[in-house]
Amino acid sequence: MTEMIPASQSAPQSAPVATGVRLADYRPPAFLVDEVHLDFRLAPASTRVTARLALRRNGGGDAPLVLSGRGLKPVGFAIDGMPLAEDRYTVTDEDLTVRDVPNSFTFESEVEIDPDGNRALEGLYTSGGRFYTQCEAEGFRRITWFPDRPDVLARYTVRIEAEKAYPRLLSNGNLIEQGELAGERHYAVWQDPFPKPCYLFALVAGNLDLLEDSFVTASGREVALRLFVDPGQAPRVAYAMDSLKRAMRWDEANYGREYDLDLFMIVAVRDFNMGAMENKGLNIFNSSLLIADPETATDLDYERIESVVAHEYFHNWTGNRITCRDWFQLCVKEGLTVFRDQSFSADMRGEAVQRIKDVRALRARQFPEDAGPLAHPARPDHYQKIDNFYTATVYEKGAEIVRLLRTLIGPEDYRSGMDLYFQRFDGQAVTVEDFVSCFADVTGSDLSGVLSWYLQAGTPEVSVTPRYDAAAKTLSLDLRQSVPPTRGMGDKVPLPVPLRLGLLDAEGRQQSFLAPGADEPESEAVVTLRGATDTITLTGVAEAPVLSTLRGFSAPVSLTVTEPGENRFIRLAHDPDLFNRWEAGQSLARDLMLARVKGEPDRTGERRFVDALGRAMADQSSEPAFKALLLALPSEQDLALAAPPADPAAIHEARDNLRQLAAEVLRGQLEALHDGLVALGSFSPDAESAGRRALRNAALDILMAAGTPSDIARAKAHADGASDMTTALGGLSALMQAGGAAYDSAVAAFYTRWRDEPLVIDKWFALQARSPAPDVLDRVKALTEHPAFDAKTPNRFRALVSTFAQMNPARFHDPSGAGYRFLADQILAVDQFNPQVAARQLEPLGGWRRYKPELAALMKAELARILASPGLSANVAELAAKALAE
Ligand code: PHE
Ligand code: ZN
Repeated sequence: MTEMIPASQSAPQSAPVATGVRLADYRPPAFLVDEVHLDFRLAPASTRVTARLALRRNGGGDAPLVLSGRGLKPVGFAIDGMPLAEDRYTVTDEDLTVRDVPNSFTFESEVEIDPDGNRALEGLYTSGGRFYTQCEAEGFRRITWFPDRPDVLARYTVRIEAEKAYPRLLSNGNLIEQGELAGERHYAVWQDPFPKPCYLFALVAGNLDLLEDSFVTASGREVALRLFVDPGQAPRVAYAMDSLKRAMRWDEANYGREYDLDLFMIVAVRDFNMGAMENKGLNIFNSSLLIADPETATDLDYERIESVVAHEYFHNWTGNRITCRDWFQLCVKEGLTVFRDQSFSADMRGEAVQRIKDVRALRARQFPEDAGPLAHPARPDHYQKIDNFYTATVYEKGAEIVRLLRTLIGPEDYRSGMDLYFQRFDGQAVTVEDFVSCFADVTGSDLSGVLSWYLQAGTPEVSVTPRYDAAAKTLSLDLRQSVPPTRGMGDKVPLPVPLRLGLLDAEGRQQSFLAPGADEPESEAVVTLRGATDTITLTGVAEAPVLSTLRGFSAPVSLTVTEPGENRFIRLAHDPDLFNRWEAGQSLARDLMLARVKGEPDRTGERRFVDALGRAMADQSSEPAFKALLLALPSEQDLALAAPPADPAAIHEARDNLRQLAAEVLRGQLEALHDGLVALGSFSPDAESAGRRALRNAALDILMAAGTPSDIARAKAHADGASDMTTALGGLSALMQAGGAAYDSAVAAFYTRWRDEPLVIDKWFALQARSPAPDVLDRVKALTEHPAFDAKTPNRFRALVSTFAQMNPARFHDPSGAGYRFLADQILAVDQFNPQVAARQLEPLGGWRRYKPELAALMKAELARILASPGLSANVAELAAKALAE
């Protein structure tokens, strides 16, 4: 495949033209690979890779053998031991075609590659003087010639040879041989007994320290657990190790899944494009998601480590043992595995708080994607670069669909369906249809509606109009849904929408009711909207109710309820469903801030809301972590999404105003909270302690909206007295709101203290990018010249550039367009060596339709400038063209 010209450029008039890859064109592989022998002779600038593939024709024909390869310097090819004559094959930039091959044969190739020169961080590359690989999605073709597609599963034997200066030589599976060689060299041979697609291949070599432990599986097998890190870092992966063991136990208890090899390894790497990777038996992690200690890691870091370690571990069954037939089916491994890691985190940290955080992330990342030019179904049907489809829709909406499926059929049938899935498809490469079929088979029901959730883009809009009949004691719910059109997809079918609901009375007490089909009154039920409209009647409703629906966010929809605004106050104070309690507060705050944006402030309403918030804060029965979420008002990004066309400057001001009012009215209470929650004793990363630190930071954050001299002194004491990173950053970020000398000197001192800790310096860059100061863009630009800035390290680049573009809307959307220009320049610069990372930065510009026309025009102009730049990668070209298409 050559670099694609975007459809919109080549054929502006006609219907979307087929470019890139289409699901409809899927064909089974012409050749299968049974065995792979790889031989690496590692050297930073020139590594030799020899591959021996045992190939076999898949179902007749006489098609030539076509293998993928990219940037490989060919040394030689052979078939069944005979060097290939030049007229038998053709090599292009993308593939190797060999004609007249037998039905079953051995293909051998030798190539040379340059790991040091590889800054795309895909294939084999170096970081900190060590070797690492990253093969998902299509990186294996940068290592050797291969049918680089997930439905070709093979057994791998891997020999690694290197100088002894690279003491550890690791690959997937079991170590079967190792030894010394002449010239201060050594080698190791690894064998993976489980057939796998090449995207799960991994190799790591270099000087690494080790933290070791073991785990005894449910059936009594002992598994060695080894976490590898940069020299000196081993004590800092203790939390990751603990998370791993808890995840292994959880998967046994909740899904009946045991680990299958005798060894499980994780390696941390500083330079990595994504979060982490589930390579069979040898996970590779961005070091930011593995390394933590009380002094340098925040509670959010601990939380993420726990969930990502679990996520990658869970992939061993949902992804590795059962993999994707093709990359369109990505969410069969990702959506499902995210749902599994969310369930694990909920069990570890509390269901309601976890759910609120997950929904907040979904709305912040997936809802805008689904409402914009990059909208695509969780199972897309075409793409140009698969790298561009590791999206919030595939991951987070994919997880919501699995959750919704479980809600529809119930937990027991969900578990039976999963059992059937593992039994039926173990060792295979599957589709979304295969996945859904298991649940249809165990329930005997038609689940085509669930499949539709995977195939339709766009966030469904659901409205509920309750009608209470006091005489009949019935509550009728008129339900309606519509899925907004998204590009290339006009007509959409109604989707099954499970609504978990309960009823409160005017004092906020739960009312019981009889749902259709139920035998007994209950206080909560799930009703399902299936058509475009429907009416559902609840009976035995004693008094006019306050409806609490979509509890726990039981479906990923945008909900409108026709009800008195008043009801939200009752839910905020009393809803036993904590998600809806939080949601009521968010919704009240959002409306009040949007009224200010429109220049129509509702001062009485604001005061009422803040008083209600104060009462919720005083509630002794709710946890600090939950209160911290209540106190965090909807973000500027949330508000921009809620009322397009957005004016980010006005939104920033409106949000500040409400925070100021809260600071004024709740001052006594917030100060008492802040004083009372000081951590005593030694640090513990558990959820309850983290909740206290979060609440303390949240209280300080609100006080800083007033920013009196005593607040500034409080912030300074908070920062100076911090003995953990969550508190230290909370203090620094509070000082940043006030700005001035106190902030500048605290920022400088922080750098001096942590300059040798790359993960902390990433936080230092990110913090400064969020500053509300009017001159922050100049500061961010100056930081790109800082000696510690390095655009070639994705963590560092994202800390500064993505944080500015995504977390500082008021300044990014500067009316001059300077923020947009800065981002576009950065994208173009990084695209020269790392297209995946560059393409991921386009999102903040892609949302131009949601902003007021002056801003939208400037955003479009930058997208157009990017698209017109010579030498653009296919990754950036695909997204920029889509973002611009009318
Ligand atoms: N598959 C990884 C995951 O667990 C993500 C990833 C994709 C990592 C592509 C690297 C490259 O979600
Ligand atoms: Zn994953």
